[in-house]
Amino acid sequence: MASLSITTKHTIAPVDRKIFSGFVEHMGRCVYGGLVPASHPEVSTSDECVEGFRKDVVDTFRELKPPLVRYPGGNYCANFNWRDGVGPMNERKPRLDLAWHNTEPNTFGTNEFVAWCRVTDVEPFFCLNMGTGDLREALAWIEYCNSDADSYYANLRRSHGVEKPHNIKYWCLGNEVYGDWQVAQISKEVYAAQAIQWAKAIRFLDPSVKLVLCGQHGYNDWDEYVLQQCVEWVDFHSIHLYSDQKTHEQAVFAPRIAETCIVWTQAMIDKARHAKKVKKQVKICFDEWNVWNPQDYPGDEGHEEVYNVSDMLGVAVWLHIFVRHADIVEIACIAQSVNVLAPIRTKEGDLVKQTTWWPYVLMSQYLRGGRSVSTHVNSCSSFTGELTGQLALFENMLPSDLKHLDMAAVVSEDNVLTISVVNAKLEDIEADLSIDAEFKAGLEKIEVSGEPGDVNTFEDKEKVVPVRSELSTDKKVTFKRCSYTMLRYQL
Ligand code: AHR
Ligand code: AHR
Repeated sequence: MASLSITTKHTIAPVDRKIFSGFVEHMGRCVYGGLVPASHPEVSTSDECVEGFRKDVVDTFRELKPPLVRYPGGNYCANFNWRDGVGPMNERKPRLDLAWHNTEPNTFGTNEFVAWCRVTDVEPFFCLNMGTGDLREALAWIEYCNSDADSYYANLRRSHGVEKPHNIKYWCLGNEVYGDWQVAQISKEVYAAQAIQWAKAIRFLDPSVKLVLCGQHGYNDWDEYVLQQCVEWVDFHSIHLYSDQKTHEQAVFAPRIAETCIVWTQAMIDKARHAKKVKKQVKICFDEWNVWNPQDYPGDEGHEEVYNVSDMLGVAVWLHIFVRHADIVEIACIAQSVNVLAPIRTKEGDLVKQTTWWPYVLMSQYLRGGRSVSTHVNSCSSFTGELTGQLALFENMLPSDLKHLDMAAVVSEDNVLTISVVNAKLEDIEADLSIDAEFKAGLEKIEVSGEPGDVNTFEDKEKVVPVRSELSTDKKVTFKRCSYTMLRYQL
């Protein structure tokens, strides 16, 4: 029998709601066809809209309540100019997007995105162009968005019908600027020198903003160098990682590489803070994460990945990792939010929730705001096969045994303990819960399971959905094969 231990008296940290954030990039059908009908702004489709935005997508986001949504990229950032996407529609110019080899119509830009955020009740989170963009252009955008002065760009915003500033709080200093896939790649030395000047100037303009340094994966020289140079200038260090999913084992275990990335990044942040005597906390902003197979779902074709049950378990493990490291991870954005590598897919007049939607929405609903508590899988069977793909490549960043059960636990203010468990094994696992508290009542068991390859499609939307049942206070629990389970107890 497996054994899971939960120490409710050991609080790791409160779970910041911002770990359930999203990401909207101008690529594929994320914006056009996702947030707005494909033919926006000449609405000629059957999609029902609220204020010009797809109502089904707005409603789905309202259910999920992602606190922040990052925009407008991604790689797209590196050669976009915010000026192209504001002002009267008939003056907006289509531009070539060199990141994804599209023509961007620019009929959806800053003000449309912020309007969508207000309708959807999420907070916008912007990424600056540190590729082809310069500091002057970045400052102009921040003035346009955040200034209440009688100044040129604030007045330009007013002339576009937006009287009050948008007050965008979170800004990324570039996106993946280290990569050779970027329109304008730069070295870590150049980036660090620029990031300091940009941070200084941006804070002259708006001292209230929170700045995110562009990190890599959290295990690179880049991360160490830019943190050492810039730590006192920023509030967050960003890291990105996508986990493999060519096999069931890769999908469910590869997210564990991210756990090591977080631990190493935390150490690099602390080392840099120590060297520079910085008292302020700098947190991790994991602003792109997901399960992704770039070979089968290439970016130029819009990354319309269809996620199965193995991927769903991978997403659940990803979220467990953020909960387990709630002391350092303050923001995490699933990449992306609609159609592109996303938990929801749309077509004209229809929307489907993918398998990965379920752990994401359940954890977002039940875990936010509680305190993450210490957990340990004491004993359980492990994967014994050959490591392949990313698992083989990053073997030394993985735990020595890949246990089939993965868990996180959160206690809410009203003393409800939620235990969130992934069973990656293709067999049921019986487990004994060892807890330092008594259960007053079992509230509910929520279980999502299926065969590894099962997917939700437009034709069969409910193939993989949660099943809710009563829960006893018995401390022996069976976790179904290939399942995601939430156990909720009143303490
Ligand atoms: O989310 C897809 C892409 O992955 C983003 O544009 C980029 O930042 C990352 O490499
Ligand atoms: O597919 C191009 C780039 O390669 C992606 O944006 C990046 O994440 C990957 O490494």
